[in-house]
Amino acid sequence: MEDLVGFYLRAPEGRAYLSRLPNVAFSTLDDRKLAAVLNYVVFEIGGTSAPSGAKPYSALEVGRWRKQPLTEVALSKYRQQLVERLIDQHQAPAALRVYGNAY
Ligand code: HEM
Repeated sequence: MEDLVGFYLRAPEGRAYLSRLPNVAFSTLDDRKLAAVLNYVVFEIGGTSAPSGAKPYSALEVGRWRKQPLTEVALSKYRQQLVERLIDQHQAPAALRVYGNAY
């Protein structure tokens, strides 16, 4: 995920996806702390992969998205389709296809 996770921010649904992942959405952290963790994941662990000028997650934004957790969809299929779109339309690298790449 190092140098990859920021590619999700290239599409609005990718940005939302990270805060809608069940393990993220159902965290016991409050919205402000969860936004801080997501910003760490995306901008620190993600290295150069976040688009330049990408806005950090705000508590308000994360608070909204986490109320719509991805529990009603098949998560791996949802991820696969999102990743294909990021690769086709937003120049994300093929390495993003491999779940857990570089963990
Ligand atoms: C705020 C807390 C968390 C954050 C920010 C976070 C973030 C992430 C991210 C960004 C991914 C990659 C998603 C993708 O590639 O599409 C991921 C995957 C994953 N997360 Fe978390 N996560 C959190 C909590 C947890 C917890 C509590 C668990 C388990 C109890 C967990 C288990 C997993 C697993 C199993 C994967 C898939 C890894 C793989 O298959 O390689 N996560 N997480």
